[in-house]
Amino acid sequence: MSKDKDSRKFGVLIHGAGWVAGQHAGAFSNNPHTEVVAVSSRRLQGAQDLVDRCGLAGAAVYDDLAEALANDSVDIVCVCTPQHVHCENVLAAAAAGKHIVIEKPAGNSLAELRAMRDAVAAAGVKTVVSFVLRWNPLFMEIKRLIAQDALGEIFCVEADYQSYNSAWWGGWEDGRKASTAVSALAVAGCHAVDAMRWFAAPGEHQAAEPVEVFAYAGGKRKGKARQYDPTQNDWHDQPPMEYDGLEMVLTKFASGVIGKASVNFECIQPYSFPLSIFGDKGTVKQNRLFAPQTGGGEWTEIPGICPDSSDVTHHPFQAQADHFVDCVISDKESHCNLADAIKTHEILFAAQRCYETGAPVKLPLL
Ligand SMILES: NC(=O)c1ccc[n+]([C@@H]2O[C@H](COP(=O)([O-])OP(=O)(O)OC[C@H]3O[C@@H](n4cnc5c(N)ncnc54)[C@H](OP(=O)(O)O)[C@@H]3O)[C@@H](O)[C@H]2O)c1
Repeated sequence: MSKDKDSRKFGVLIHGAGWVAGQHAGAFSNNPHTEVVAVSSRRLQGAQDLVDRCGLAGAAVYDDLAEALANDSVDIVCVCTPQHVHCENVLAAAAAGKHIVIEKPAGNSLAELRAMRDAVAAAGVKTVVSFVLRWNPLFMEIKRLIAQDALGEIFCVEADYQSYNSAWWGGWEDGRKASTAVSALAVAGCHAVDAMRWFAAPGEHQAAEPVEVFAYAGGKRKGKARQYDPTQNDWHDQPPMEYDGLEMVLTKFASGVIGKASVNFECIQPYSFPLSIFGDKGTVKQNRLFAPQTGGGEWTEIPGICPDSSDVTHHPFQAQADHFVDCVISDKESHCNLADAIKTHEILFAAQRCYETGAPVKLPLL
């Protein structure tokens, strides 16, 4: 996109005015090179509410994405709708020549991912998929340690998303259904899968190449009305989750690293995101490092903010937005662009294939 970046700020359209949208709106409002010029959503009132909530004075509101995309002052579109409409939103934004932030999961099938990948490539626009934990301060510090060889050669990574997702999340009515949400890995466990890829690679801004997947799905919650509400510490009836709440995925990477990622929507406990990274010189467990050659024989604390909350206000959307704006201005691809993020998504679709066949699945699938 030819834009005199010095003459005016890049205009951002927030599409899908719900929970996560407020974080993207705040982040792009704070970035000195961008301003939120428009908000669109299914309901006009939903868009207006976000404008009011986030103080987006002067932003235009729409209940039609095509009309919003026709606004010439929009350069960047932030797709914050439920996951089953991401693909059609991304195709429309790419066709309009806009750079795109895509909330996770980027798409609900391999066919959707392929269509988006081709559309984005044809349009030549920049993308970032919102695997926002890549910008978590602890994640960034661990990646710096790995890149500096503090752990030696990584051979094993484990990452787990553990959260009793239910009606406390406003997106749950779409998110609990197999038809709109696919699986627990797709809805939220993809963060753990992406963390596994991220820490399996030696480079500071690099995620590893998966080559084979084996997975099991299980748990007891699927189809059951009686459910736990972690916000009230209470049990009550609500429409059931339509997919397995537990998935465990083993992944072999091209480098030989073996990874394990899981999602657990069944656990009766506060949210947690346990992380273990094993190298031939040391080990990281959450925010603790054991590296005898440099740190003696003691665990030492790694500075940073642990990924210990599912609340979007805790997530580093500002750093992600700043990174993406830098990519747009500098005409460079994000390490977490759609092409890279597809490799994370392929693992969760390979897991689905495993449940059908009981056999390991070779990657890539696209
Ligand atoms: N990266 C992260 O850490 C993170 C965290 C949370 C969520 N997410 C992802 O972000 C996406 C949105 O999640 P959320 O928690 O913000 O959900 P949400 O609160 O339900 O917000 C989605 C909003 O989109 C609007 N919408 C629904 N269907 C639409 C359609 N067909 N066209 C246009 N707008 C539509 C709705 O607003 P109106 O009905 O008011 O118009 C709704 O409020 C999901 O993919 C989710 O997985 C990512």
